[in-house]
Amino acid sequence: MTRSRSDALSPVDCRPLRGVIFDMDGVLTDTIEFHYQTWQRLADEEGIPFNRHANEALRGLSRRDSLLRLLQGRVLPESKLQELLDRKNRYFRSFIETMTADSLLPGVRPFLDDLREAGIKTAVASASQNVYVVIEKLGIAPDIDIITNVYDVDRPKPAPDVFLYAAQQLGLGPEDCVVFEDAESGVEAARAAQMRVVGLGDAAQVGAADWILPGLEGIRWHHVQGTLGAIAP
Ligand code: G6P
Ligand code: MG
Repeated sequence: MTRSRSDALSPVDCRPLRGVIFDMDGVLTDTIEFHYQTWQRLADEEGIPFNRHANEALRGLSRRDSLLRLLQGRVLPESKLQELLDRKNRYFRSFIETMTADSLLPGVRPFLDDLREAGIKTAVASASQNVYVVIEKLGIAPDIDIITNVYDVDRPKPAPDVFLYAAQQLGLGPEDCVVFEDAESGVEAARAAQMRVVGLGDAAQVGAADWILPGLEGIRWHHVQGTLGAIAP
């Protein structure tokens, strides 16, 4: 566990955190593997080189931005782009069909219970158009106060828009919220929103977070409050 920001507030300035905003893919559930397999299938069908390493760079990007990254400068008519996006999502939806509460990543269920008990508000702010159906399949809709995605705002991550919108919908300020993210673009978006941020996974992706953890397993609200409650957003 590492902390990369150390600008501690005086106790007088400290306001307890009151809301948690989760990214979804790679934070609540491991859809990253499904995204990988569907992009790989599409790339193979189109004869475009792609691999797991290239997929890592797509974490947190919208579907269209991911496709443009995958095409590496190849220029295609809009109708072809749309067909590729639709095909990719069709493949992805067949993976979503298989999802259940067992698809939650380790530690998510107890952490959500802990947040409810502590009276902490919760939101999911994703880049995914599939956010509503995935949250439903995971069986956690009753645990989440606000579900939103980048299509509700003007600019996708790394712009702060979706996190600011989620906080506003929760009735909270940015300084009240902590974001959980697994992607570089998401950490950047949370920082731009002036929120505290926990990065989950690889420091190569989330090195700019306030606190880096391997995942949510074993995490309780008092750990988060104790670690981040006293640093400036
Ligand atoms: C998340 C994932 C990305 C994915 C994006 C769009 O942010 O990290 O890998 O491309 O959502 O998902 P969608 O479900 O709309 O295709
Ligand atoms: Mg993610």
